[in-house]
Amino acid sequence: MNHPHYSRPRRLLHWLFAAVVLWATISGYASVLLQPPPSVQQAIAFINVSLTSVLVPLFVVRLFYLVRHPAPPAPAHQSALERRLAQTGHAALLITLGTALFSGVLMMSRPIDLFGLQLPQPLQDPAAISVFEELHHYSCLALALLVAGHIAAVLFHQWRGHGVLRRMLPKRP
Ligand code: HEM
Ligand code: HEM
Repeated sequence: MNHPHYSRPRRLLHWLFAAVVLWATISGYASVLLQPPPSVQQAIAFINVSLTSVLVPLFVVRLFYLVRHPAPPAPAHQSALERRLAQTGHAALLITLGTALFSGVLMMSRPIDLFGLQLPQPLQDPAAISVFEELHHYSCLALALLVAGHIAAVLFHQWRGHGVLRRMLPKRP
């Protein structure tokens, strides 16, 4: 049977974002909750700011492909409600991801260190910075919950025998 797939750029972007978001979420919360030595916290902060900043321009590329390469048709077994749920979940993931990215940049109270390249912090006003700090805190929490739900939904579909994972994997000959 021929299964429809997301386009190659959408698949590549999905897995690149997934890897960085999973790493930034797990290491970011580990740094806050487990309180490792300051040198480890600084290393995590440096790696995470650098990696997630790369996602900012790529997010625009992702939105471009979202419009240019529409998703493949929904699997035939899905009811109208399931399709609506999946579409809403994906939209919520993208909106929350965008919010986490721009709030992260705008909350910076030091230059943005992009693998050694120093970019100036966009805002100077401490009150505005603290608003975006709070927005970053809540958007990262919401993103972590949505991602957990997203992974659970994919696993649930696999378990029911209606694999959706292959729609995001390379096409097999
Ligand atoms: C989707 C992308 C991102 C994710 C998943 C993410 C995740 C996290 C998490 C889990 C925390 C700790 C949670 C907390 O303290 O409430 C955190 C803190 C932080 N994030 Fe992000 N973040 C993202 C993007 C960014 C960006 C683009 C920047 C700046 C360029 C940034 C800068 C920071 C800073 C400065 C902190 C405070 C702690 C530290 O210095 O490491 N984040 N992030
Ligand atoms: C960790 C961060 C993740 C984010 C932010 C994320 C986000 C998204 C979004 C927005 C879509 C809709 C298609 C698109 O626009 O790319 C999607 C689809 C998909 N994701 Fe993820 N994802 C993540 C992780 C994962 C993981 C770990 C898996 C594997 C268990 C996964 C499996 C899938 C699959 C199979 C689809 C296609 C669903 C369909 O059939 O339409 N995702 N994801």
